[in-house]
Amino acid sequence: MHSSSRTSPIRICCIGAGYVGGPTMAMIAKQCPDIPVAVVDLNQARIDQWNSDELPVYEPGLQEVVAEARGRNLTFSTDVEGAIRSSNMIFISVNTPTKMHGIGAGRAANLEFVEKCARKIAECSQGHKIVVEKSTLPVRTAEAVKRILSSASSGATFDVLSNPEFLAEGTAVSDLLAPDRVLIGGESSQAIEQLASVYERWIPREKILTTNLWSSELSKLTANAFLAQRVSSINAISALCEVTGANVDEVARAIGTDSRIGPKFLKASVGFGGSCFQKDILNLVYLCEHFGLSEVAKYWEQVVVMNDYQKKRFSTRMVRTMFHTVSDKQIAVWGFAFKKDTNDTRESAAIYVCRDLLEEGARLMVYDPRVSEKQIRQDLMNVFKASSGEVSERHRQLIEKNVTVVKDAYTAANLSHAIVVLTEWDEFKKLDMQRVYDQMHRPAFVFDGRNVLDAQTMDKIGFEVHGIGRS
Ligand code: NAD
Ligand code: UGA
Repeated sequence: MHSSSRTSPIRICCIGAGYVGGPTMAMIAKQCPDIPVAVVDLNQARIDQWNSDELPVYEPGLQEVVAEARGRNLTFSTDVEGAIRSSNMIFISVNTPTKMHGIGAGRAANLEFVEKCARKIAECSQGHKIVVEKSTLPVRTAEAVKRILSSASSGATFDVLSNPEFLAEGTAVSDLLAPDRVLIGGESSQAIEQLASVYERWIPREKILTTNLWSSELSKLTANAFLAQRVSSINAISALCEVTGANVDEVARAIGTDSRIGPKFLKASVGFGGSCFQKDILNLVYLCEHFGLSEVAKYWEQVVVMNDYQKKRFSTRMVRTMFHTVSDKQIAVWGFAFKKDTNDTRESAAIYVCRDLLEEGARLMVYDPRVSEKQIRQDLMNVFKASSGEVSERHRQLIEKNVTVVKDAYTAANLSHAIVVLTEWDEFKKLDMQRVYDQMHRPAFVFDGRNVLDAQTMDKIGFEVHGIGRS
């Protein structure tokens, strides 16, 4: 491994056109009109969407960023080999899901896709290239990537950098425009400088942190673990609030004004979701176990245990409150995405709450402003899959007959016995709740899994409101 002594103009390729690869590269291309940016993926349908007006990822402001750069210096295609050949800086931004089978199943990260990318890069490269790990990876993955790259028969040479992504879905564009920091880990200062020179076009130099490779890889897992830990901590307190008369939002405000604690990420909820928090913590747990640090592993695992408890506690509370049965009762489900302003449903708490309610025989009227009916049905089908991968006929029937997906929140509430808010979409705060109440059965229950509705007003109208962390 060595750095090239000359630096030629940067030409970027990104393997993986997902929630990270697409928006990140679109932002780089927008900010650096002179740098060609080729985003490639094996998934033809996804690439077609990136080339259309219906982007595969819903993010406020993304359409405009893509429109500015696409066709100028930003391209989307399935020509992985061609893009590798014609670039000298290659980002790997493929998925790194939790392993489902074999050693470390249920915890370790599945690095199959990353390894395949490294092999493809080794196979197609000539000259010198900088390979950038953008995917979230276990600490020391760069070691394996370097070994695979060093097998390149063409004599190509590589520098490997770690440049984890910290954007959050729903705010990806603003996070990419003005990140708290950009982290670059690596061994070659020349390669680090080249990557830094890309970000420096729009990000102040003091926000570009450089570290060694392993610190960078580990910082990504650690950041997600700390963020998720805050949510699990406030959710743990919400359970105590419900039995003591304290109000979790008041507690969050009271502790959040302590500058050492800070106000962010203290919103109690039905549980965190998203593709990364759980996956990354389980990965951290696996790493700790691997290195014989079982106490450290147990400490972090508790964050996920608490999150599962919170989701279960919520659905159980719904059933108990509704006279211990929801069988044949219609329940309006407001929101299915794992948070507002995204169409992503991966690990959404809504999937697990809906599963529990369906098991109890409820009829669900689901509404989400951005998630498609196809996605909702697929998620519910997946959650009922047994370890064999099969869905029983009973569960198939439940999804077929007891799940209706509708186009607005009022239709969902019409003739319902209860409403359950599972995503904090802003539009739910603006609804005419008197109109909603008039359409519902009595008592009109509301289970607000995000504490977004105005409980006092709803109380006055006549709803029976149950929020998170309120008695
Ligand atoms: P994603 O599943 O949305 O996208 C990954 C893409 O990679 C898919 O389109 C897939 O077809 C493609 N791919 C897989 N193997 C490939 C191969 N060999 N060649 C070409 N394409 C291939 O995943 P994502 O949400 O974009 O996450 C990517 C990585 O970024 C993960 O490691 C994740 O942990 C990390 N991350 C995600 C977020 C987020 O908000 N989603 C934020 C920060 C970091
Ligand atoms: C998270 C991190 O915030 C990003 O920095 C990181 O890059 C990303 O994971 C990743 O690695 O994938 P994301 O999952 O997109 O981003 O969204 P968050 O805003 O972190 O929310 C995660 C979950 O926690 C959501 O379900 C959200 O509703 C929940 N949450 C968040 C709460 O319940 N309460 C809070 O106070 C904050």
